[in-house]
Amino acid sequence: MIGDFKGKHILHGNQFSNEDLDKIMNVADEFEQGLEKGQTYDLMKGKILAALFFEPSTRTRLSFESAMLSLGGGVISVASAATSSAAKGESIGDTALTVSQYAHVMVMRHPEIGSAAEAASVATVPVINAGDGAGQHPTQALLDAYTIKKEIGALDGITVSLVGDLKYGRTVHALVELLSLYDIGLRLVSPASLKMPADIVERLKQKGMEIVETENLVEAAAESDLMYVTRIQKERFSDIKDYEKIKGVYVIDEALLEKAKKGVVIMHPLPRVDEISESVDSYEGAAYFRQVRNGVYVRMALLALVLGIK
Ligand code: NCD
Repeated sequence: MIGDFKGKHILHGNQFSNEDLDKIMNVADEFEQGLEKGQTYDLMKGKILAALFFEPSTRTRLSFESAMLSLGGGVISVASAATSSAAKGESIGDTALTVSQYAHVMVMRHPEIGSAAEAASVATVPVINAGDGAGQHPTQALLDAYTIKKEIGALDGITVSLVGDLKYGRTVHALVELLSLYDIGLRLVSPASLKMPADIVERLKQKGMEIVETENLVEAAAESDLMYVTRIQKERFSDIKDYEKIKGVYVIDEALLEKAKKGVVIMHPLPRVDEISESVDSYEGAAYFRQVRNGVYVRMALLALVLGIK
């Protein structure tokens, strides 16, 4: 439970309560309506966001920057570890202390699990975790939850399949935490070697979630209102041969859609490699580019909330 967001760090999917999610979604919706109407904002005038990306990113970094600029704030960025003092061996703590002198809020992506929490332990401004290795990606989970609400109308009473790399995928690690706040039936569809970590599954079951772990995509598709598809996280494999064996294992294409539940919504955090055929893009339930747009509204809401402007 976050309650009052002002000054808080956003590090993990398990931080949020239903009320917190309602708050974020309401503010995001307000910004969505405003931007759709052509409204401009100067709520963040004089405020600076630092975007520190020590791992590749397109959507997360640009949507945070777009969100801050849309609110009238400014942005400073590090777009790769190679161009920052991380390449000289600077610690995460020293980086966080330094950036606290330049910005009112920082967003950080880093290859190590726990890196954002480490930054938050010394930073004097809010730290937002934009992906810590194979750990968490809470802001993606928030925009995913917002997208589900928009696409399906509700989160309660639905069946959701998470498909692909559930072992290394940080988006699904964060998303299941949010889904566990609702009455959702979960299908975890992955190859045996890429299952959701057992401690996470156990904890979710203890919270009363109905969970089925399976390798069978077709069966899961037939009973799901939503398929959340993920990329096999090639960069996390210590032996590339293991990746080669498994890549392409699940593909959403027109043939799969025919066997799926009618009206199924397809989401993906992107980037996709080969998990969703481009021929699916014209299907009306293909929500992944609408999902991208929602990232701006949700990140506007989060920035406004942690800076105490909403
Ligand atoms: C994801 C990530 O970086 O974890 N991308 C994103 O933020 N939208 C998913 C991925 O890289 O597969």
